[in-house]
Amino acid sequence: MEADVTGGFEIGARAKTRCDALGAPPYSEAEGQLTRRFLTAAHGAALDALTRWMLEAGMSVRRDAAANLIGRYEGETPGAKALIIGSHIDSVRNGGRYDGPLGIVLGVDVVEALSRAGRRLPFAIEVVAFGDEEGSRFPASMSCSRAIAGTLDASALDMKDAEGVSVAEALAAFGGDPANIASAARKREDVLAFLEAHIEQGPVLEAEGLALGVVTAIAAQKRLMVRIEGTAGHAGTTPMNLRKDPGPAAAEAMLTLERICRAGTDGLVGTVGRMTALPGAFNVIPGAVEFSMDIRAETSATRDEAVLTIGAEIHAIAAKRGLSATVTLMQALAESPCDPSLMNLLEQALRDLDLPLRRLPSGAGHDAMVMADLCPTAMLFIRCEGGISHNPAEAVTEADCALAAQAMLHFIDKLERRERA
Ligand code: GLV
Ligand code: MN
Ligand code: MN
Repeated sequence: MEADVTGGFEIGARAKTRCDALGAPPYSEAEGQLTRRFLTAAHGAALDALTRWMLEAGMSVRRDAAANLIGRYEGETPGAKALIIGSHIDSVRNGGRYDGPLGIVLGVDVVEALSRAGRRLPFAIEVVAFGDEEGSRFPASMSCSRAIAGTLDASALDMKDAEGVSVAEALAAFGGDPANIASAARKREDVLAFLEAHIEQGPVLEAEGLALGVVTAIAAQKRLMVRIEGTAGHAGTTPMNLRKDPGPAAAEAMLTLERICRAGTDGLVGTVGRMTALPGAFNVIPGAVEFSMDIRAETSATRDEAVLTIGAEIHAIAAKRGLSATVTLMQALAESPCDPSLMNLLEQALRDLDLPLRRLPSGAGHDAMVMADLCPTAMLFIRCEGGISHNPAEAVTEADCALAAQAMLHFIDKLERRERA
């Protein structure tokens, strides 16, 4: 059956509106911005809305032990392997409305189109809303997709948020089942592939006048926490030469990170996104400064070399000033190539739509890189305005969303043909 048999429903056109609807309370923790962190009431409200949309689209819906929301549209045979389509419902603080949710609501639209056309496939389709891609509440990220991929380390449940609440406590309060988290893991034989549609979060597609692109690979990343310790003291009475102030040492360390990454190759980038001086007062020389480092590159080797160099430099900077430093690895994700045969199917789908072909890598992290441990993965990028993301100004067009949904449906056609062959 052809991809445009949708029962008179314009696939993808309402995806933008749905993301916009999820951009304010109760789907955001705060008025006037979108902040939807893992296992908050806003996360729960968004899952309730998605549940309604999944049910309307013809799916059965469940939540697993790790708080993943999973809608399932059965294939011709109940219990068939599933093509999982998904992305994340959580956001960064004061983030954009499309980073994550767009890939979920596009999946819902694709299923609704199939269901309206009365069409069943040789595989099931599951649409998944992962809850923790950004890591904006707990120090590490992607615990939901890791639970599904079966790679979640039990220690992840002990991580605490800024209020001292552990993942296990928050998950239990949310209705999840931390003691039984292993039950969320999917069997390889039950999963055919994973497809994630996501805004590009960069400027390439827009600059080239393209609506869609096919992702080749996702960059390797590491998250580290640095703590430089000195001696807290009075800001007015301690002469400059008698201080053990970790503040300037932290500043020197950040400039060093910038220098190393600017000189790097393979798309090496380094970011300090969070910094805290403790105890944190105008008139107190801090006793310690903590800051995060997010370091990424196209290969783990390049990333790791930079991590080693910056680690050694931070220790040297601290020692020179009579301070001590610790650098703690919070999370490591290897680079994740997308599956070549699925990339070809996505390109054939774009060709069906008379769209130019463009392959590009992803500097941003995605649940797809975790799902790659479970099954072959594919990612479709959607143009976003100015390449702006992790920012309330994030924007997409309804027309591009509609094209993305059509491309996903054509991709499913190709996969069906391959599976029947
Ligand atoms: C998520 O957006 C990430 O790239 O860290
Ligand atoms: Mn993001
Ligand atoms: Mn994202």
